[in-house]
Amino acid sequence: MTDDNSRLSADRLRNDPRVAQAKALLSAALREHSAPLNEVRPADPQLEKECATLLDRLTEARGAAPYFPYIASGIGNGPWVELADGSVKLDFIGGIGVHGLGHSHMQMLDAAIDGALEDTVMQGNLQQNRPSIAMCERLLDLANAGDSDLGHCLLSTSGAMANENALKIAFHARRPADRIIAFTNCFAGRSLALAALTDRPSYRSGLPETILVDYLPFYDPSNPQQSTQAAVDRLHELLTRYPGRHAAFWAEPIAGEGGYVPGDPDFFQALLKPIRAAGILTIFDEVQSFGRTTAPLAYQAFGLDRYVDITTIGKITQVCATLYRKQLQPTAPILSQTFTGSSASIATGLRMLDQLADQECFGVDGRNQRNHNHFASCVQTLAQRYPGQIQGPYGKGMMIAMTPGDGSYETANCWVRELYAAGLICFLCGGNPYRIRFLPPPAITTTEHIDSAIAIIEQVLQSSSTKASE
Ligand SMILES: Cc1ncc(COP(=O)(O)O)c(C=O)c1O
Repeated sequence: MTDDNSRLSADRLRNDPRVAQAKALLSAALREHSAPLNEVRPADPQLEKECATLLDRLTEARGAAPYFPYIASGIGNGPWVELADGSVKLDFIGGIGVHGLGHSHMQMLDAAIDGALEDTVMQGNLQQNRPSIAMCERLLDLANAGDSDLGHCLLSTSGAMANENALKIAFHARRPADRIIAFTNCFAGRSLALAALTDRPSYRSGLPETILVDYLPFYDPSNPQQSTQAAVDRLHELLTRYPGRHAAFWAEPIAGEGGYVPGDPDFFQALLKPIRAAGILTIFDEVQSFGRTTAPLAYQAFGLDRYVDITTIGKITQVCATLYRKQLQPTAPILSQTFTGSSASIATGLRMLDQLADQECFGVDGRNQRNHNHFASCVQTLAQRYPGQIQGPYGKGMMIAMTPGDGSYETANCWVRELYAAGLICFLCGGNPYRIRFLPPPAITTTEHIDSAIAIIEQVLQSSSTKASE
């Protein structure tokens, strides 16, 4: 027993020197085993066979093969990850934007232990521990750093659920309005309502249309004025055709799945003024963009703080959330979930927020922007050196993309697979054209990591140039 005078047993447990000793032992072991994972390595032939069996089992259990033959071994080192086949790869997709500190980070281990020391694995609407409150308050503070006025925060376990809650709040507040305005090419998640909102017909194949959605054309950076005018004209048409029928305008500040096309402050302002005047609520979906631009939320980077009525957050925060104005608090029990997050995801999410700040990710000259500039200039150099093979860069901050060759699905898919085989993990986005996207872990990516990624891309470019000339 210690002579800790904390009034709560839980605090005495946390302050117990044995906990600190156990943490120190675990982090020393992790450091030792993870440090050698610092470059691309090929698979081990024996493990490759075992891994093939695992993949077959996964395919059988899941009913479909995974996109990559990716089964992690359970350890990594920053953006480097060891797979079950013994290979080491440079992970520049991070579970599609989730692993903001890469793999096996000491801070994540430390926070996950704190989470494991909570009395329950999961927290929910009926039973919340102190870190849930801290998480809600931290997200609200971050979101209101400018002149937004978001008063409430509801945690959830997926970006889709965060968006579902956002739509429910908006429909309830604006009842009987029954329509949503969104952008062409948008992606909101995989629930039934969000499949209706997402502008991808194949994602709602065979599903009933659950909500009514009207689409505006998105910003075209190569044609700012005309694309802004086209969106404003379409908006006015919709407002005239369906007066009072729109509950919300739902938007990603940076089109993610749609191809890493950033919106623009003037473009958004031109839409948001008439939207606000019509009493329609604005929902910014920051599930992918949170933590990746010059501000925690991309709407802040665009100076749109005062227009936001509801925002959704996910991925890098490890637990998802819907933040909304106080006056939108529903007057009926339409919001509730058994799980709001696991104790470990809430603890690691809080630590992630600390790390994004400590590693100075934000600001016009912050880490995200500096890494973006370096990555973007390298992609630009490659585009000049290999004309016709890649175009770019596209995106903003730590959301970077390039268009391979003719931008067809076949070309982009083939590229992503070749890069994977060469040791760089990235993924597709867009559709017209298809692009290759990178979501490097913001809080730990260095210029050296970016240079390693560029060297792998160049190696694949060279081998495809050689194949083409044979
Ligand atoms: C912008 C956006 N919103 C919502 C989602 C859905 O998040 P989740 O997959 O956690 O449900 C995603 C996922 O990629 C996304 O990019």
